Amino acid sequence: MTETATVVELAKRRGYFFQSSRAYGGVSGFYTYGPQGAALKENIEDTWRERFTLKEGNFEVDAPIVMPEPVFEASGHLDGFDDMLVECPECHASHRADHIIEDNTGIEEAESLPIPEVENLLAEHELTCPNCGADLAGQAIEEFNLMFQTSIGPGSSQPGYLRPETAQGIFVEFPQLKEYARNQLPFGVTQIGPAYRNEISPRKSLLRLREFTQAELELFIDPEEDEPALDVVRDVEAPLYSAEMQESDDGEPVTMAIGDAVDEGIISDAWVAYYLGLAKQWYTRIGIDMEKFRFRQHLPGELAHYAADCWDAEALVDGDWIELAGFANRGDYDLSKHGSYSDEDFTLFKQYDEPKHVERATVDPDMSYLGPEFGGAAADIGEALQTLAERDRSAFDGDSVEVEVDGEAYEIPSEHVNFEVSEETEAGEHIVPHVIEPSFGVDRALYTVVHHAYREDEVEGEERSYLALKPEVAPTFVGVFPLTSKDGLPETAQSVATELRERGLSVAYDDSGSIGRRYRRQDEVGTPFCVTLDADPEGTATIRERDSTEQVRVDLDELADVLTALRTGERTFDTL
Ligand code: GLY
Repeated sequence: MTETATVVELAKRRGYFFQSSRAYGGVSGFYTYGPQGAALKENIEDTWRERFTLKEGNFEVDAPIVMPEPVFEASGHLDGFDDMLVECPECHASHRADHIIEDNTGIEEAESLPIPEVENLLAEHELTCPNCGADLAGQAIEEFNLMFQTSIGPGSSQPGYLRPETAQGIFVEFPQLKEYARNQLPFGVTQIGPAYRNEISPRKSLLRLREFTQAELELFIDPEEDEPALDVVRDVEAPLYSAEMQESDDGEPVTMAIGDAVDEGIISDAWVAYYLGLAKQWYTRIGIDMEKFRFRQHLPGELAHYAADCWDAEALVDGDWIELAGFANRGDYDLSKHGSYSDEDFTLFKQYDEPKHVERATVDPDMSYLGPEFGGAAADIGEALQTLAERDRSAFDGDSVEVEVDGEAYEIPSEHVNFEVSEETEAGEHIVPHVIEPSFGVDRALYTVVHHAYREDEVEGEERSYLALKPEVAPTFVGVFPLTSKDGLPETAQSVATELRERGLSVAYDDSGSIGRRYRRQDEVGTPFCVTLDADPEGTATIRERDSTEQVRVDLDELADVLTALRTGERTFDTL
């Protein structure tokens, strides 16, 4: 079995994750987290929230999943959020044309290629349908929009879409959120929740889902003034694979300190660098193997429609590099678009340190002249005169002013224009904040954590497989077992389990089968510690550590404190 097949089988058998609605045949791209998986996911989300919301002083919101169509007209998703769909002429299966090319040729990032080139590549490489083997040469490629559409209310007069990124739920509320932030930049808003993409061919378990969970942070900044606290992550070492390294013939990722990478211009955006540093620390904390991890910069053709620069966090899983997170500078794209498509104010008033005296050029066109003279074009001429006044005052020096409207030139005598330059005092200006976005896929993080935690070894001559999950995220923290069913041990073990649960620990009580079997069961789901109650000496129990299988004996009245300290990281097993 491949590592993936082994992990996917374990995940299904032991309640981590499995394809949903199997009773009705299952639907590709939808997965259910079982009891272990749901707890692991929540623990991962809690560490993310602690790091990227609480510790950063950001605000968390919870916006609706369904949003009306104008949101996505403005965001660009209605027009620009497409994948390349090719349909098999024989079996009519749908495939992503770029994936077929990547899987069967040496070509990478085929999604950045223009459609005619992809159509040519299908023919040139004689590529066939992965389902039935039919020839795909000559098949037209369609741009397939990835958003799930729905109707809001009865009838179809108000189309809605399931959000393809949680980010839009933050951007559209900027007019309210800026008030909450008392109009002070920078401020960050986070959201953890589901997003939806109607993938053409979902694949690889949790790696390409149609419903998935994102943990996103949208940081609103004044690009002229705000700077990150880069010193916090200056010394964090990370493997970096810049676009330049990828494009050079022998380019390999280089491990270097984040601060040096900024100083040397490898990461050009200090905010992006700051979040790469935090992300490296967070991924280490939840158990991603740093020997199988890198940050890769997007190649120019790979950038999303909104991004000025973007780096991905990537992990090696069973031989393939997969994307875990994206760190993008979205510039003013989102707020400018929502500002121009809606009636709300997506700008923020930035007060100057000192009020500024500015000269303002205005016109007050004489409409009683413009109307009779130019008819229907009069209003547009008036607007064109104001635009010209703001752009080029010298145009008003002569006896007449010339403006162009819809390709036609109009000459207006100066006495009917009423051009004037006046002095005004300005306290500040309206700016459109820029957005820095670290966007994490929670399912992919979980999938990678489980993969990287999977181990096989031999204990007392018996093969064992286990998940070396970090105690902070392990779904079950401690197994509690009575050694035998005699001497009141089950009752004592039950009361220990109750006490530990009251202390907020996740406990699995197990009294069935041999003690060795019970240890193996907990090892396989990644439970870091097991407590066994035995009769001798009275008033004590053993704590066994999963990876080393070593045991220490502790007094029962200290047990809850010791385990709580192991959970918070205040103590380690070696020091017991
Ligand atoms: N918000 C970025 C993304 O969903 O890819």
